[in-house]
Amino acid sequence: MTDAKKLFVKTYGCQMNVYDSERMAEALAAQGYETTDRADDADMVLLNTCHIREKAAEKVYSDLGRLRPLKTGKPDLKIAVAGCVAQAEGAEITRRMPLVDLVVGPQAYHRLPDLMGRVARGERPVETEFPAEDKFDHLPARPGGTLAGRAPTAFLTVQEGCDKFCAFCVVPYTRGAEVSRPATRILDEARGLVARGVREITLLGQNVNAYHGQGPDGGDWSLGRLIRALARIDGLERLRYTTSHPNDMDDYLIAAHGEEAKLMPYLHLPVQSGSDRILKAMNRKHTADSYLRLIERIRAARPDILLTSDFIVGFPGETDADFEATLALVRAVGYGASFSFKYSARPGTPAAEREDVPAEVADARLQALQALITEQQRAVQEAMVGREVSVLFEKPGRLPGQMVGKSEYLHAVHVPGEGVAVGDLRRVRITESGPNSLGGRLV
Ligand code: 5AD
Ligand code: SF4
Repeated sequence: MTDAKKLFVKTYGCQMNVYDSERMAEALAAQGYETTDRADDADMVLLNTCHIREKAAEKVYSDLGRLRPLKTGKPDLKIAVAGCVAQAEGAEITRRMPLVDLVVGPQAYHRLPDLMGRVARGERPVETEFPAEDKFDHLPARPGGTLAGRAPTAFLTVQEGCDKFCAFCVVPYTRGAEVSRPATRILDEARGLVARGVREITLLGQNVNAYHGQGPDGGDWSLGRLIRALARIDGLERLRYTTSHPNDMDDYLIAAHGEEAKLMPYLHLPVQSGSDRILKAMNRKHTADSYLRLIERIRAARPDILLTSDFIVGFPGETDADFEATLALVRAVGYGASFSFKYSARPGTPAAEREDVPAEVADARLQALQALITEQQRAVQEAMVGREVSVLFEKPGRLPGQMVGKSEYLHAVHVPGEGVAVGDLRRVRITESGPNSLGGRLV
């Protein structure tokens, strides 16, 4: 018998939200909440939301609607909305959804315990300020202990917000201006993660390669510099970072890809479009050609690097010729994987004022682009067959005895698991390629 209160968290959107959800759960753990994976079992439901496209934002309201019977049956249930929809829509949420007790934006979630106190006093707080204090300084230290079945991988936020103002994007409004955490804090947090068994860390930021944090020496550290310092931590075997803007890939960071063995040969470098006209209308501040030249420099430093990107089709004004330019860029690069999205007009962004491409046209382009991306992904995966990779094992696979992990290229790899434990880093020879994963044998 335990009288711990139960917390159910649902996370939408990006990896930053995954990290934030963990930190919020930790902040609430200090208030006696333990997490549950069943909403109907919970005393508190926390939705950590995404505002990036209309569909993602609207999903929150339908999910809230579905919580109504639960709340009716259990009036003490607390319902909180966090994340980027909370930031963008604030009090609109409590107005539209009377069952919501609390709204908290991504920069204020360290105030959650406080806000819960106000809920207990019958208030319905809406906290969407960008507080002067740094939330990371006000969160409890990350819990110690051992891996105990958890994945040997972790996210670590090093930078938040964005100053780029791409014409389609809400992030500069929902997450605010670019802020980098001091390097010392990041190194401390990384050491703590490693002490509890984490072997791979993915550094997170909306514009992570624009990282410019205070170094231990008081000077300004770039992401490349931070990566080199993190790579010196014993027991930390792998580093990754996401998401990057092409204009912030500096020489030092590119060089780190060639020289730093712990930095994995994988880079997510969104280009959005292959048409200079559209890139200009998107306010991307680079051209297709400058992107391709950048890719050449990165590949010169690390020839086997696997590249991925994001694309938007049907951006206002996109013609057939613009779209063809995107397909041409994809063919020129040869991506290991990519995400493609139909443009979604977001309130408050400059592009929302412009006229949309007809939906059928955008749909057809999305299908054509996705077919090309899938074809490239398959080719890259098939080229792995016969090669030897290193795999960090994360969990048991679907078949009995199977274990699954990730290669340095972030491919999911499964092996018959004889003698493999979660957290092991082993050499594997790839023997087969499936639609979404590779299969292999321990070397
Ligand atoms: N519509 C469609 N896709 C978008 N993205 C960002 N904003 C929008 C939008 N308004 C995509 C971009 C970005 C990814 C995270 O989401 O491709 O890189
Ligand atoms: Fe969604 Fe962007 Fe917010 Fe992440 S930062 S939760 S992708 S809107």
